[in-house]
Amino acid sequence: MSTVAEPPPVGMPAGRPPRASASAGEVMRPALHRIRRLRRETHDTFTVELQPEGGGPCAPWLPGQFNMLYVFGVGEIPISISGDPQSPVLVHTTRAVGRVTNEMSALRAGDVVGVRGPFGTPWPLEAARGHDVAVVAGGIGLAPLRSALYGLLANRGDYGNVVLLYGTRSPQDILYRHELERWRARFDLEVHVTVDRGLPAWHGNVGVVTTLIHKAPFTPRQAVAMICGPEVMIRYSGLELQRRGVEAERIYVSMERNMKCAVGFCGHCQFGPYFVCRDGPVFRYDQVADLASRWEV
Ligand SMILES: Cc1cc2nc3c(=O)[nH]c(=O)nc-3n(C[C@H](O)[C@H](O)[C@H](O)COP(=O)(O)OP(=O)(O)OC[C@H]3O[C@@H](n4cnc5c(N)ncnc54)[C@H](O)[C@@H]3O)c2cc1C
Ligand code: FES
Repeated sequence: MSTVAEPPPVGMPAGRPPRASASAGEVMRPALHRIRRLRRETHDTFTVELQPEGGGPCAPWLPGQFNMLYVFGVGEIPISISGDPQSPVLVHTTRAVGRVTNEMSALRAGDVVGVRGPFGTPWPLEAARGHDVAVVAGGIGLAPLRSALYGLLANRGDYGNVVLLYGTRSPQDILYRHELERWRARFDLEVHVTVDRGLPAWHGNVGVVTTLIHKAPFTPRQAVAMICGPEVMIRYSGLELQRRGVEAERIYVSMERNMKCAVGFCGHCQFGPYFVCRDGPVFRYDQVADLASRWEV
């Protein structure tokens, strides 16, 4: 059985220089970005495309990383980068759930926001080369995984079977619907969608996303899995993948905690012995499975 390379050591963001080299002032200062486009995805979810104010390229980033987006006069929040790593614009998909996200959803093309980042650990696209890949997404969790899917598809020949299992609340909540249809038409990517509650016009799967895992076409003993969604969904998906035979060391999850600094200064995002902003958000499942099964760690 082949082995998956170890992810970056905990605390060391992969693929970019350690932020210790940047001064505190530098990492806390948002760079102005202008909204090129704001697109409604569903009734409560929207996607912004951002470009640096004054031109120039966006900061390089890796799938799985996040930015701190600052809505001036309102607040700053962590949002994963959900676009194509090869695209020159920065893409973020956000669900409006509270103060900052609701204000952000009211912005328009031409408005300016602040961006700090990218921060955090990436999805293990390098470690997954040569393996089947199971991507398991719940709700808005598809957004951080979409950039991983772009990365997998850009180097499709480097991976075995690639399977996307996506669960959401109802057919109206399906994100990136047109893109999912396009992907479904490909012969080299399996896309399975399920909803918690169907509608009369819905003829697809009904049930939680974990119900898709047992029949998904990947070989468990050599598969790498990536999970993002609500914490309870992560927990049950991890258990179901292990039940199918995927080793915990090959399962990667993206965790969320409230954040302030995003660079390991303030401790706001503490998760057991880890800081999610610095040691995550992407963790190996065996590192966090015990923590994720308990509340308020
Ligand atoms: C690393 C990381 C990456 C993230 N990536 C994304 C992303 O790509 N897209 C995205 O939409 N969100 C993402 N989030 C979550 C996002 O940061 C929060 O939804 C946001 O901070 C909420 O801010 P707010 O001021 O709008 O809400 P608040 O005013 O802080 O909260 C309002 C209410 O909403 C509840 N709430 C807060 N967050 C959530 C949530 N996620 N789901 C449901 N209820 C919530 C709170 O409990 C509270 O009751 C990410 C979080 C982290 C840590
Ligand atoms: S948000 Fe400050 S330490 Fe993570």
